[in-house]
Amino acid sequence: MLTLDKYYPAGGQVADEIKLADLKTTQREDVLFAMAKLPYSSTEKPVVIYRQLLANGEIEYRTISAKCPHQGADISLDELKPDGNVYCSLHRRPICIFSEYNRAYLTVKRGDDFYIIKN
Ligand code: FES
Repeated sequence: MLTLDKYYPAGGQVADEIKLADLKTTQREDVLFAMAKLPYSSTEKPVVIYRQLLANGEIEYRTISAKCPHQGADISLDELKPDGNVYCSLHRRPICIFSEYNRAYLTVKRGDDFYIIKN
């Protein structure tokens, strides 16, 4: 599994827990695909969940929209890099997941279900 250069806490904020629906595996063992109604959205949309082993030995999950904020490309197959970013395969812009200015949502696994939680 990837080792991060540096750890930054999840920057995404939610008012209430959000249960992730329709979980699916991807070609990457550390990436899941799901549906969720994220803050400021009126409908469920595709999201990506990243699973990361931290330096302290704990596993942390983070969720973000599966659509690149630039022009909406699907980032679910794009690899998380040691700098904590995913680089969108369409125009190579960085999307912060574990890097300093991330807006990713802290996520926990309970049984077989995943929830975005308050941070
Ligand atoms: S659509 Fe992702 S960088 Fe342009």
